[in-house]
Amino acid sequence: MRIDILTLFPEMFTGFLDGSLLGEARRARLIDVCLTNIRDFAEGVHRQVDDRPYGGGPGMLLMPGPVVSCVEAVQQQADAPGHLVMLTPGGRRLDQAGVEELARKQRIVLVCGRYEGFDDRVRETLQPDEISIGDYVLSGGEVAAMVIVDAVARLLPGVLGDEESARQDSFSGADRLVEGPQYTRPREFRGLRVPDVLLSGDHGRIATWRHEQAVDATRRRVPANLSPNRS
Ligand code: ADE
Repeated sequence: MRIDILTLFPEMFTGFLDGSLLGEARRARLIDVCLTNIRDFAEGVHRQVDDRPYGGGPGMLLMPGPVVSCVEAVQQQADAPGHLVMLTPGGRRLDQAGVEELARKQRIVLVCGRYEGFDDRVRETLQPDEISIGDYVLSGGEVAAMVIVDAVARLLPGVLGDEESARQDSFSGADRLVEGPQYTRPREFRGLRVPDVLLSGDHGRIATWRHEQAVDATRRRVPANLSPNRS
């Protein structure tokens, strides 16, 4: 998969992209992440990318010209254009089903905003898939783009090295259950013992116990996922 990230701050991604899981996936060519600086598509000696909003108001908006030119140029860099995503707090809220949908694409192009947001003509011109990572406002789309890259990358075949572990994650699978508690050594920590069933070696009982725990955790944390007529 190829992921393009369009940003005014490409340097924010360096440590992140070299990190263990993603760094290895990139070196193994399972994923190709390409960074493009939106400022390279700005005009004039000052390479201006933002300006004050018409009608007044706080802050600065990203001008449509540099963003649209940048997207158009990047889309031509590969055989086929990518699925275009604009990171914005007003977008559809990302969940694991949304991540799975993105992970099925051959190529995605993530556009990060800064300042108070984008001039609305970016949206009108490009008609991107607008995505929010949660109902709070970040100072830019870069951290949101990292969230998407991380969550998508670990679903790609070969990245985790253990296909089961992605399938068993919270929110994955048809029933969208939250994972129940898990334990490693030691068997007892500060008086807290690992449940006996996990030491029993009885795989059937262990699977049943895990499922019950997952249903309990889901009831407590995201009860909507248990309702029978959930879409
Ligand atoms: N940019 C600023 N806040 C954001 C959010 N919550 N999700 C995606 N992009 C953003």
